[in-house]
Amino acid sequence: MKTLRECVKEAEENKVAIGHFNISNLEAFHAIYNAAKKLNVPVIVGVSEGEESFVGKEEAVALVRSIRERDNYPIFLNADHHSNFEAVRACIDAGFDSVIFDGAKLSFEENVKITKECVDYARSVTRKTSRDTIVEAELGYIGSGSNIKDTIPEGAGILTKPEEAKKFVEMTGIDMLAPSVGSVHGLIKSGKPHIDAELVKEIRKKTGVPLVLHGGSGLRDVDFTNAITSGISIVHINTEIRIAYVEGLKKSLADKPDEVVPYKISAPAMNAVEEMVESRLKLFNNME
Ligand code: 13P
Repeated sequence: MKTLRECVKEAEENKVAIGHFNISNLEAFHAIYNAAKKLNVPVIVGVSEGEESFVGKEEAVALVRSIRERDNYPIFLNADHHSNFEAVRACIDAGFDSVIFDGAKLSFEENVKITKECVDYARSVTRKTSRDTIVEAELGYIGSGSNIKDTIPEGAGILTKPEEAKKFVEMTGIDMLAPSVGSVHGLIKSGKPHIDAELVKEIRKKTGVPLVLHGGSGLRDVDFTNAITSGISIVHINTEIRIAYVEGLKKSLADKPDEVVPYKISAPAMNAVEEMVESRLKLFNNME
């Protein structure tokens, strides 16, 4: 079975992107997996620090690994936006397939220092166990919080400078970079800014590593396709999943107020997430 590293390489070669979707519960996990399996494409499930503390670190690893091994299917687990070395190290130890150290708010020097620490630790584990953990880091600030926002938050959307990105990758040895190229985290009511595809192209060329687009919720289809053909290999979506889940759940509770069976109440929420993930995966994998 292909590793995540191999799947990312293949996505790059085919000019498609792997979808990365966050989970807070088992319902979202099954919905994401069902959608990916239907289309037969690799998929990444992510947990932020908050999601991880709710789902459980070891539980998330066991869940993803059990399905991957049972079905021989390329589904992977990512530690999304972890804010310090200790949190990243714990996920590497637990068996995550990839980790993201998010030092975007730090100074360049501090971001380099901690990112390098994460990379060195991941490599030392690989030497000892032959378990390969991909390390991603962020440069440029795209805001935080997968929720609904009225406007783009102050300070978010600071674009990554290609020369600085090159230096950052050289100094840290990361496997993948999350640059700031126009998107911001969350669903912005007043509309998201556009993705700067030329900037994506330039950063990809200068850094030589696969690029990851964060803040996917609310972007126009054309922004995704331009970003992917310009060098994005993974796209992250979270807020749209949360909205699909909550809307599905609210409708379910309103439609059947006397229902008490949890899996029956949750089914419409799961279906809503599955539908949303399937449509994004089709787009990212050039299937429409
Ligand atoms: P959105 O919440 O904007 O989809 O961003 C998700 C994300 O980038 C998670 O890493």
